[in-house]
Amino acid sequence: MKKQNLTQKLLDWYELNGRDLPWRVKGKAHPNPYVIFVSEVMLQQTTVKTVIPYFERFMRRFPDVFTLASTTEDEVYQYWQGLGYYSRARSLLKAARTVVESYGGVFPHHEKDVAKLKGFGTYTIASFLALAYNQPTTVVDGNVMRIMCRLHYLTAPLETIKDEIFQKAAALSSKKYPADYASAIMDLGATICTPKHPQCLLCPWQEACLSVGKDNIEQIPYRNKPDKKEMFGNVYIIRNKKSEIFIRKRTEKGLLSGLYEFPWGEKPLLSGATDTGKEVTHIFTHIKLKLKIFTLSLDDPKIDGTFVTPADLDKYALSTLMKKVWQKINPVH
Ligand code: ADE
Repeated sequence: MKKQNLTQKLLDWYELNGRDLPWRVKGKAHPNPYVIFVSEVMLQQTTVKTVIPYFERFMRRFPDVFTLASTTEDEVYQYWQGLGYYSRARSLLKAARTVVESYGGVFPHHEKDVAKLKGFGTYTIASFLALAYNQPTTVVDGNVMRIMCRLHYLTAPLETIKDEIFQKAAALSSKKYPADYASAIMDLGATICTPKHPQCLLCPWQEACLSVGKDNIEQIPYRNKPDKKEMFGNVYIIRNKKSEIFIRKRTEKGLLSGLYEFPWGEKPLLSGATDTGKEVTHIFTHIKLKLKIFTLSLDDPKIDGTFVTPADLDKYALSTLMKKVWQKINPVH
């Protein structure tokens, strides 16, 4: 089948089957680049379903780039709590400030300027330019890689064929309707060409796809994934005489930086603590972390941080990991 036909088939499919999403405008309407900016950053590494309520809350509080640029990092973290990958929140704020300070609040539309915005990598540059400004780019995320590998039956390890995948994706991308094409291929990946149980019978590309009916379709794309490194540690719920809880803010660099946490470490931090017998496990990008939960009564832990009432804990941006810890020892909350 000709490439133009495949491109057009996908666009036709999208017109009938494309999802209505809160950041999306279909057809001829012009999107608000700020809306695309926020949604694309949230959608890096997070699913549409998870993002929607966060996006809506975020837009109510920060309806435009000026409001976002003038807020604090802590407040952005609060609105990001639970989305994970918190460096994105910090980058989003920095990029918003750049847009206000360097471009008077108007998002740039030249690739070289967009590429300078904090947190914008190859994928986000391409998706932002296609979706916000209808520019012909090649958008390649995990969905697109899976679709290209299946369409062309590429079974070499994904890491070794990224250039080939990009070329194949570029050849199919629409020059005429880049925004709709980018949205369409994301929807195809999310609703039809899914990792498990792909709906090949409903796929607009089924006639051309070299993987339809193959036993190994769910294994494509093949990956050489290194195992996640396992880390172990102890986390401490410290209460003072007023039954307040001790939390501290993580340092500005590294995993979960800027968020609040109960003190924890790979080595025991405090003596005299009681082992609750409970533990939490959390999977990060490269690490699987298992923490044993200890409790302790102490008025001065001699650690930088602060005591807060349990009711006030909600006001601090705790990571999902720390929320799990709190949930474990307070199952009613
Ligand atoms: N994934 C990344 N960007 C997306 C978008 N704009 N719509 C749906 N899924 C996406």
